[in-house]
Amino acid sequence: MAEGIQPGEFDVAAFARRFDHHAREYSDHLNEILDHMREQCPVAHTDAYGGFWVLTRYEDVLQVVRDDETFSLKAGLSIPSNRQPGDPPSFRPGDLDPPESFKYRSILEPLVSPSALAKLDPFVRKTARDLVDGFVEKGEADLVQDLAVPLTAIVTLHIAGLPEQDWPRHVAERREANSKPLPPEEEMRRVMERFEWSRRAYLDAWEKQRENPVEGGLVARLIDARVDGRPLTEDEYISMMINFVVGGLETTQALLGSSWVHLARNPYQREDLRQNLDLMPAAVEEMLRCFSPQPGLPRIATRDTAIGGQTIREGEKVFMSWASANRDAAKFDDPDRFDIRRKPNRHLTFGTGAHLCLGRNLTRLEAQICMTEVLTRLPDYRVVEEGLERIPDSSTLYGYLSVPVTFTPGRKAG
Ligand code: HEM
Repeated sequence: MAEGIQPGEFDVAAFARRFDHHAREYSDHLNEILDHMREQCPVAHTDAYGGFWVLTRYEDVLQVVRDDETFSLKAGLSIPSNRQPGDPPSFRPGDLDPPESFKYRSILEPLVSPSALAKLDPFVRKTARDLVDGFVEKGEADLVQDLAVPLTAIVTLHIAGLPEQDWPRHVAERREANSKPLPPEEEMRRVMERFEWSRRAYLDAWEKQRENPVEGGLVARLIDARVDGRPLTEDEYISMMINFVVGGLETTQALLGSSWVHLARNPYQREDLRQNLDLMPAAVEEMLRCFSPQPGLPRIATRDTAIGGQTIREGEKVFMSWASANRDAAKFDDPDRFDIRRKPNRHLTFGTGAHLCLGRNLTRLEAQICMTEVLTRLPDYRVVEEGLERIPDSSTLYGYLSVPVTFTPGRKAG
């Protein structure tokens, strides 16, 4: 701890000098840290995890994310890298540089096209209504665990063409991964077990659907897909399943949790939105901007270059903070204000360029429906503050594991 700092006090300048996106302080003081860095050291270097640069200004983040030749994904999507020597190669579009990534991305795109989502809309609405029916008479619920988690899981499995009733198994694995940190060997054992369970479930679906495809589902698409004129290999199939199924679950849950907490703490804003539900699409954009569930991602420099006047050498990693870019006053008027009428709102929460989030419109659909359902059916919900449980490591996911609420009991709609 820096000299003169009392236990319990947070020294933002000291944290910025040894920036560590896995640290608990990063979760607890995210915006304070990012605001400080954007002002004081917008292109900052940290020695953590072998050293990397942290970019906090909108323009600098944009420079990197738009330049796939200079800034590559080949060192993985996390710092430190989650790739081990000897790991099978990944074929997720989100792990490959273009043009290779496009071959895989184009297979997934029809699943979340505007027409596919228009067809999905009634299913999402019915699922949200049924889930709220499950607790509306009780006067209490955990909005993340009882609504956001099952909704996103059931919808994702539905799109994938996997059995929807298996959703608790898919989710139990993920929740465990995000809750209390375990000793590294135990963590590794569980990760392997989880991976093995998912792999078997995906392979089982492949076998069954070769005979009886769930038409229009992800598994059936992957069975029929061709890359360079040949069918997918097993590794390619598993990578793409993981990318779509895992990508679809946690980020949207995190967005919803943070948004419900914010609206409960700001009752005038909540009431404004409740009275003006036609503003929901713009309100969800503002939630995405303010509560960026994936706060940042890295790239590695493939050649010497410069960002914001700072030389970046070939082989050095840069961490793009979407969460900070979204609060940059050079881009957004009054960036600290949560404004459901904000226009334009060009946040970077879904990234941009070649890797622009594939599932963004699915998230928008789920979030708009879920928020509307809660605001209309639990209009006076209050958050049980002492029961809030934050995801302890916000390196790639920022939000809550648990948002307990109480409210005046209502009637079932179904
Ligand atoms: C709030 C919700 C979400 C957030 C914040 C989010 C964030 C992101 C970001 C920032 C990227 C770009 C990564 C990069 O530039 O390296 C990305 C890519 C991706 N996302 Fe999302 N995502 C969300 C929801 C979803 C959903 C629901 C799905 C699946 C249905 C999904 C699937 C993907 C895929 C497949 C990619 C890789 C695209 C490519 O590289 O071509 N995401 N996401």
